[in-house]
Amino acid sequence: MVMQGSPDFRDSGLEFPPGFVFGSATAAYQIEGAAHEDGRGPSIWDTFSRIPGKVVNGDTGDVACDHYHRLDEDLDLMKSLHLQSYRFSISWSRVIPEGTGRMNSAGLDFYDRVIDGLLERGITPTVTLYHWDLPQALEDNGGWPARDTAEAFGEYARRMGERYGDRVQTWTTLNEPWCTAHLGYGSGVHAPGRQDPADVLAAAHHLNLAHGLAIEALRGVVRNDPDFSVTLNLHALRPAGPTGAEAVRRIDAVGNRIWTGPMLSGAYPEDLFADTAKITDWSFVRDGDLDTIRQPLDVLGINYYSTKLVQMWDSASDERAVSGNAILAGNPWPGAEDVEFLPQPGPHTAMGWNIEPAGLMELVGSIARAYPELPLMITENGAAFEDTVVAGRVHDVERVDYLRRHLTAVHRLIEAGVDLRGYFVWSLLDNYEWAYGYAKRFGIVHVDYDTLVRTKKDSALWFAELARTGRIPE
Ligand code: NOJ
Repeated sequence: MVMQGSPDFRDSGLEFPPGFVFGSATAAYQIEGAAHEDGRGPSIWDTFSRIPGKVVNGDTGDVACDHYHRLDEDLDLMKSLHLQSYRFSISWSRVIPEGTGRMNSAGLDFYDRVIDGLLERGITPTVTLYHWDLPQALEDNGGWPARDTAEAFGEYARRMGERYGDRVQTWTTLNEPWCTAHLGYGSGVHAPGRQDPADVLAAAHHLNLAHGLAIEALRGVVRNDPDFSVTLNLHALRPAGPTGAEAVRRIDAVGNRIWTGPMLSGAYPEDLFADTAKITDWSFVRDGDLDTIRQPLDVLGINYYSTKLVQMWDSASDERAVSGNAILAGNPWPGAEDVEFLPQPGPHTAMGWNIEPAGLMELVGSIARAYPELPLMITENGAAFEDTVVAGRVHDVERVDYLRRHLTAVHRLIEAGVDLRGYFVWSLLDNYEWAYGYAKRFGIVHVDYDTLVRTKKDSALWFAELARTGRIPE
């Protein structure tokens, strides 16, 4: 890829092609609140967040940003920011409280109001069906390691297609299934908090299957020719030292190709089977599953935040490195337990993640080379910093710089011929950052959790100017 412009990616004035979509993203459990209202059933995050020690400060999503009650205000906010699309998720247990069976009309009405409110304001809805909040009843029945959960997801998708299929522009099946399988069932730092490497792999397969079943079901019921998609957090991997290439191969297999293999090419990678042979025989993969999983996609969503620097860990001679990207509980990498994640040079965000726009180019460039016909979308990118409101303003200089540098990278990819269709900033609002609770602020809009007052940060004003003009502002 030819590099042009400033070496640090700090360009301004660059113009995006007409039709390129600027949006922002959120997820139901992170913003809605109203967790016990209007017939919503419990999800695994309601349960997990109440287990002492699992979430910083014991925070829960009970109130979150109170978006459920402040919908109109938030929709007006999006319009004032000139957003062209809004990526949000449906809370499965709000619309089908036990995950299967009876539906909850108050919950269904809420998403009608979201979708209609967006359309009235000229904003296209990008819907995610699963952003980590599995109905607790389905977890009690085995969760994602169980095949029934995939079947239930297909039926949920069909019903959502029937209800909203006349108005939704983009249907995304899953958000970051790596986090669901590997953090939910491997490291245990996410709900439901289980730690079993065999479960990780079974969960991954059933998430893949759920994706395929959902797209099949949606295709059968929607009539408005929408885009079908999935969002993956593919890992941008860099090798360190003589064992780096092997470490990259292992993490790429169980972190990236475990999704792209079946979803985009119709097969699991052979090296993944070899790496995990001691953990599982993969007998949960049934005849026909891979055909179901490989569905033609209209666009692939990629979430990008930072890079990972890896080598093989020599346990005999070496104390294991701990980096901002390491997850310090059970190991979330079945078959790649001996990979070591090295600290990386700064600057870093408040998450400890290194800021590296070149990683976005490397990752997206590699996917574009592997799947040249597949349109791509950045469905999340953004950063947490310690923001404070001073005299009604939030001068989040670091976030503006982060966004500028990553949008410059996006622009360079487009110039290099990559079919990138849009960019969604994570996130519209400060919100519930999972195991970090409310301690990490990713929003371009500040939320005061005592008063629930929203304050546009400088990054929101900057992003609004970009969305309005299609040009990277000064
Ligand atoms: C990934 C997830 O999709 C989102 O829920 C999370 O808040 C952000 N990245 C930041 O960690």
